[in-house]
Amino acid sequence: MFQASEQQAATKAPSLSMTGRKVVVVGGKTGIGLGVARAAHAAGATVVVASRRAASIEERPDLQDFLQVELDMRDESAVETAFQTIGSLDHLIITAAPDLGTWGAFMDADMRGVRSYVEGKFLGTWACARHGAPRINTGGTLTFLTGGMAVRPKLGFAAVTSTFAAVEALSGSLALELAPIRVNTIRPGFIDTDMWSFLPLEHRDALRKKVEETFPSRRAGKTEDIGHAALFLMTNPYVTGTVIEVSGGENLVPSVS
Ligand SMILES: NC(=O)c1ccc[n+]([C@@H]2O[C@H](COP(=O)([O-])OP(=O)(O)OC[C@H]3O[C@@H](n4cnc5c(N)ncnc54)[C@H](OP(=O)(O)O)[C@@H]3O)[C@@H](O)[C@H]2O)c1
Repeated sequence: MFQASEQQAATKAPSLSMTGRKVVVVGGKTGIGLGVARAAHAAGATVVVASRRAASIEERPDLQDFLQVELDMRDESAVETAFQTIGSLDHLIITAAPDLGTWGAFMDADMRGVRSYVEGKFLGTWACARHGAPRINTGGTLTFLTGGMAVRPKLGFAAVTSTFAAVEALSGSLALELAPIRVNTIRPGFIDTDMWSFLPLEHRDALRKKVEETFPSRRAGKTEDIGHAALFLMTNPYVTGTVIEVSGGENLVPSVS
């Protein structure tokens, strides 16, 4: 029999509504970040998307639902200025990453390229958290983004694996240090975004087909899948200090790329 106290608990279940909340997505103009921005907007939030260059509405009519702020995560003073402009907020999610200008065998990699990637992704995430966190309202969250390589290294990608692992470690540290702000990381698997546009079309199609055939989800990831996970992390009041893998089961099968 359902007791009154249980009934009360059930009616107080966390809601996915974001009405009245302000969400800032660093990297929110494209790909995964745009998926998060759209999910937050659909749930009722005011959404700010921040990245290096603001786009005009003529250029990008799909961004009209969002406020845009210019922010280069590699430049701490620019990050600080951007968060002064943004003001108080409820949820900050950092999906941006610099281009992986350099990759290849550890012994061949140019340290300047490695340094630029590690500084951009790791210290850029750090700087956004450092200058965003003091502006997060009670009940708010901070969410980082990595990828499966954080725990499944691939030949030639030591910089990415190391950087993602460092971001995940930072996420746990900040869940303790910034509590009660809740801090989590999303670790996506293959998500079909323009990040893959560096591949020739036929290679990209073949990769997507392999994903559809081998991943337990039997389909490629969509940016909406990450948006959904981000909403869960923003709205569930008991989730902090965790890494949530959203990968269609990529972790269970041999690498496809
Ligand atoms: N797609 C996947 O399959 C996948 C899987 C696992 C992990 N990931 C990770 O998720 C990240 C995002 O993926 P995505 O598919 O959304 O890629 P994306 O569409 O290329 O997005 C990257 C975003 O980062 C922003 N950005 C780049 N450098 C920046 C900087 N210095 N300061 C501020 N913003 C900057 C870009 O905007 P501006 O150019 O306007 O600055 C862009 O909006 C990837 O880099 C990767 O680390 C992706």
